Amino acid sequence: MDIRQASAADAGAIAEIYNDAVLNTTAIWNDHVTDAAGRAAWMAERQGAGYPVLVADEDGTVLGYATYGPFRPHDGYRHTAELSIYVRSDLRGRGTGSRLLERLAALAEESGIHVLVGGIEAGNAASLALHRRHGFEETGRLPQVGTKFGRWLDLVFMTRVLAGPEAQG
Ligand SMILES: CC(C)(COP(=O)(O)OP(=O)(O)OC[C@H]1O[C@@H](n2cnc3c(N)ncnc32)[C@H](O)[C@@H]1OP(=O)(O)O)[C@@H](O)C(=O)NCCC(=O)NCCS
Repeated sequence: MDIRQASAADAGAIAEIYNDAVLNTTAIWNDHVTDAAGRAAWMAERQGAGYPVLVADEDGTVLGYATYGPFRPHDGYRHTAELSIYVRSDLRGRGTGSRLLERLAALAEESGIHVLVGGIEAGNAASLALHRRHGFEETGRLPQVGTKFGRWLDLVFMTRVLAGPEAQG
């Protein structure tokens, strides 16, 4: 398995994984699906702003993707980033999420990110386990802030403090 930066050619595979998560999971609190062009535009914006979009590629098959971006828009949050990771539903439990998260954390540290945040639906056992496995701890829980599939959703924040940099004025 190769972990590499995504290119426009991956947009279709990324859209399929994203749409499956929209339609079938509480991992993402959106109700609308997208297409390759929609994901390509999103990728261009994210990569253009200097953030990574990674794919796990096995012999040309995209197993999953991962990214991080701004946590909140205010200046003081510039060393904090919020990550997301999605693995194809038929290919989970093979270590792909772990590989993506490892690489994402290394890139974040190199880029001067101090804290990584995961925003996870409280019932998403796989994501909670993945983040815990990689040194994240639960640091916040917001009851009933989301809704999907006709019920309220609780949001758990998990954070990991990375090595660098020193705080700046
Ligand atoms: C969460 C997700 C990315 C994990 O990816 P994955 O490739 O299946 O995970 P891995 O195989 O790398 O497993 C990572 C760790 O999580 C654990 N884990 C994975 N799935 C699990 C599950 N369903 N229940 C409990 N633990 C689980 C694994 O045991 C492993 O820990 P270990 O190394 O101690 O054994 C994947 O389930 C997914 O895409 N889910 C839908 C989208 C989503 O929820 N994304 C996160 C949004 S916050």
